Amino acid sequence: MQSKKTVVLLVLVFILASFASAFAGEHRDARPQKKGILLVGFGSSVPQAQVSFENIDKKVKEAFPEIPVRWAYTSAIIRHKMAKEGKQMDSVEVALAKMMDEGFTHVAVQSLHTIRGEEYHDLRRNAHAFSDMAGGFQRILVGYPLLAKHEDLVRVSEAMISHIPPERKKYEAVVFMGHGTPHPANAFYEAMMYEFQLKDPNIFVGTVEGYPDIEDIKVMLLSKGIKKTYLIPFMSVAGDHARNDMAGDEPDSWKSILTKAGITSVPILKGTAEYDDIVGIWIDHLKGVMSHF
Ligand code: CO
Repeated sequence: MQSKKTVVLLVLVFILASFASAFAGEHRDARPQKKGILLVGFGSSVPQAQVSFENIDKKVKEAFPEIPVRWAYTSAIIRHKMAKEGKQMDSVEVALAKMMDEGFTHVAVQSLHTIRGEEYHDLRRNAHAFSDMAGGFQRILVGYPLLAKHEDLVRVSEAMISHIPPERKKYEAVVFMGHGTPHPANAFYEAMMYEFQLKDPNIFVGTVEGYPDIEDIKVMLLSKGIKKTYLIPFMSVAGDHARNDMAGDEPDSWKSILTKAGITSVPILKGTAEYDDIVGIWIDHLKGVMSHF
């Protein structure tokens, strides 16, 4: 009996001690709360593509006028290319180290990627590593990319359909060019195509580096007897892929492949982040993160 009481007492002491240490943990960090936002894109070295980033930057600052906004690019190739041109862009790790040094306590990292692919998962891993550092952030959270929930797919489909040039006839196709990836999240592009086709059966989503590719899309267009299509980037920026792989004059561009198959194409060189209603979805994901601080 005596031993049972001792056990109960020990358990109580343990519970109280852990409460006390939890409070002590809170008090140990007496710094005033300093919130910050880190926007993370893949990056683009194409000067015309910067409009996308400028638009996101402007909209985020409008939504959070009191909070400092920083930027980082996940692509090392793009960062190195820009550095050679004298433009210094931080990696996520460098940007976070700087924010840590500046005494930020709460950081919202917003992914500006389209899907939850490799880049997004790497970003989460490294951002969370910062929460374990002594003297680091009290809280660091990563916001979802553009497509996360079903609701996002619905919103994106409605927004992008509203941006299709009004002169396009219903019997003409619209082909969106996604980036694509060997990562399992590539399935988001197929889900996106389904969401578009519920509203308009002549809308397709292809990818540069995943499935379906332009050969698959070409077969789909031919089987429907389509003669003309609009080509629209399904990437935040109209950068190198949009300008060369989609709309370029090289024989392996989407435009050339379709022309050879007897399908005329009209390329639109505008990234998804140039549209305010699309940027609004990223911002809603960021608001979701900020609501935890
Ligand atoms: Co690429």
